[in-house]
Amino acid sequence: MRPSISSALLITLFLLCFIHGSTSQENLIRESCRTFAKDDPNINFNFCTTSLQAAPASHCAALRGLGTISFRLIRYNVTDTRCMIRQLLKGKKLDPYVRQCLNDCFELYSDAIDTMKQAMKAYNTKRFADANIEISSIMDAATTCEDGFNERKGVVSPLTKRNNNTFELSAIALNVMRILQTRSD
Ligand SMILES: *[C@@H]1O[C@H](CO)[C@@H](O)[C@H](O)[C@H]1NC(C)=O
Ligand SMILES: *[C@@H]1O[C@H](CO)[C@@H](O)[C@H](O)[C@H]1NC(C)=O
Repeated sequence: MRPSISSALLITLFLLCFIHGSTSQENLIRESCRTFAKDDPNINFNFCTTSLQAAPASHCAALRGLGTISFRLIRYNVTDTRCMIRQLLKGKKLDPYVRQCLNDCFELYSDAIDTMKQAMKAYNTKRFADANIEISSIMDAATTCEDGFNERKGVVSPLTKRNNNTFELSAIALNVMRILQTRSD
């Protein structure tokens, strides 16, 4: 009798912890995104919560963990976008101007992959000022890539959504660090 009671208790405790853990993670994401969206016009609340919730939840819900998730999302996005640009460049009938823009974007995103590695190292060792500079340069890269297409009338950027995602995810990462930097732990 005793063993079964204690194992039932253990299971209940485990479930309670699990449920509690995932709700507090969700709350943290919602609260953080609410703050970011209020303070930063570049951040959309729904984009923020959807992005962070889609990533595998860490069991220790903390703002620092959300930062790690946002860094990972940026890295995946940047890597994936570079791959997509490479595919686009294989097109035979590309307009020469578009090809030139894509080449520029390819370089920008190639550099961005290296920059992201540095940024993650900086973040993991709490060198937030360095990580800040690096993430800002990722945002510049996405903007520069997008602007290239927009400089010529009638040209439609095939990368708008990608560039937007990279830009907004970076804005989220900057906001996480802004809050972490004001704490002294
Ligand atoms: C890029 O970011 C968006 C927005 O968070 C996400 O939905 C998408 O899955 C990411 N792409 C990759 C390849 O990680
Ligand atoms: C990209 O972002 C700009 C500015 O926030 C917005 O006007 C545009 O609709 C977005 N485009 C896409 C495809 O997400």
